[in-house]
Amino acid sequence: METHYINWMVLREYCQKLLETQGMPEDEALITADSLVEADLCGVESHGVSRMTIYLKRLEEGVVNPVCEIKVEREYPGSALINACNSMGMVAGIRIMQKCIDKAKESGSCFIAVNHSNHFGMAFYYVKMATQQNMVGITMTNAPPNIAPWGSYRPYMGTNPVAIGVPTNEEPIILDMAPSVVAMGKVILAAKLGNSIPEGWALTADGRPTTDASEGMKGTVLPIGGPKGYGIALFVDILCGILSGAQFGPYLGNMWNDFTNPQNLGHVFCCIDISKFLPLEIFKEKVGQIKRDIKALPKNPGVDIIFMPGEIEWTRAMERREKGVPLSDTVYKELKQLGEKYRVGFTLCKEEK
Ligand SMILES: NC(=O)c1ccc[n+]([C@@H]2O[C@H](COP(=O)([O-])OP(=O)(O)OC[C@H]3O[C@@H](n4cnc5c(N)ncnc54)[C@H](O)[C@@H]3O)[C@@H](O)[C@H]2O)c1
Repeated sequence: METHYINWMVLREYCQKLLETQGMPEDEALITADSLVEADLCGVESHGVSRMTIYLKRLEEGVVNPVCEIKVEREYPGSALINACNSMGMVAGIRIMQKCIDKAKESGSCFIAVNHSNHFGMAFYYVKMATQQNMVGITMTNAPPNIAPWGSYRPYMGTNPVAIGVPTNEEPIILDMAPSVVAMGKVILAAKLGNSIPEGWALTADGRPTTDASEGMKGTVLPIGGPKGYGIALFVDILCGILSGAQFGPYLGNMWNDFTNPQNLGHVFCCIDISKFLPLEIFKEKVGQIKRDIKALPKNPGVDIIFMPGEIEWTRAMERREKGVPLSDTVYKELKQLGEKYRVGFTLCKEEK
């Protein structure tokens, strides 16, 4: 299938303009577009610009608030409870993570729970922001059901991702993972592209293993490590959905097929100010040592590089900033159609190789 290589800034500007047609202020449309393009830069295409159609539809249907509002419901020195007022998840996410960083600078650490939010995309994005301000960053979000509790085939929890990152003297180390073998977004993208999925990713709606992405979409994705992935997904839901006062499990609004009700997702943002524990340079030097030690370990046959969490995404993003973001023909054409529908001049035609 044909691949189109698009300059990341051109892609971001085009997505920003599309979002502005649905009432998003310029700066908020830019944040949303930036998060999507960052996911494509990192190679997390499932959470990239392929989501523009559904985001625009939800804005158009009036089921997402195009202008971000944030209401602090409770606040203490090291914590806050925030209502995201049905704003776009990325915009609320960035603003709340910044508040978490600022509060952690004062109190040493901060934990913020968020209710009434929407899909916030790739969790990496918020943790990266914390690491750039010399914090340990942690975030998680709940999502509509796609994982079955271990022992059932009926989905109950979402592929609720957890991301954690630390700064180093080089690029940060960031683990960003769903507690499922893959994010459901990857199965959805495979279905959209007409691709099959590997065995071990998903079950059909009646619990049979499948390599058919469309069948997998209707069923569940498998948790990592069986009951352990189930347990992680459950606890993310308890923190993001119950502690925050948002919805949880099957009671969450579905982004893909419910255009009447807000999603009422919950998130958690957490920051730790390293300098309140030890001098930042010592922390970074010791994490650097872990990295050097790990990189020097003997490698399994066929392995060239032992990667740190997040390294593959970071390296890929640097390459793609130079060479362009590869878009499948399907996603490229979809973006072109969105330009026609929302009357935004199509600017992605200048392709780069
Ligand atoms: N917002 C939502 O509702 C939602 C839901 C699910 C997933 N997501 C996002 O989907 C994305 C994909 O999630 P995923 O679980 O499929 O990610 P993944 O399986 O591609 O990667 C998970 C982690 O493993 C690391 N990794 C992968 N290969 C490695 C290697 N060889 N050595 C060292 N580390 C390695 C990656 O750097 C990453 O941190 C994430 O960005 C996540 O935040 C979002």
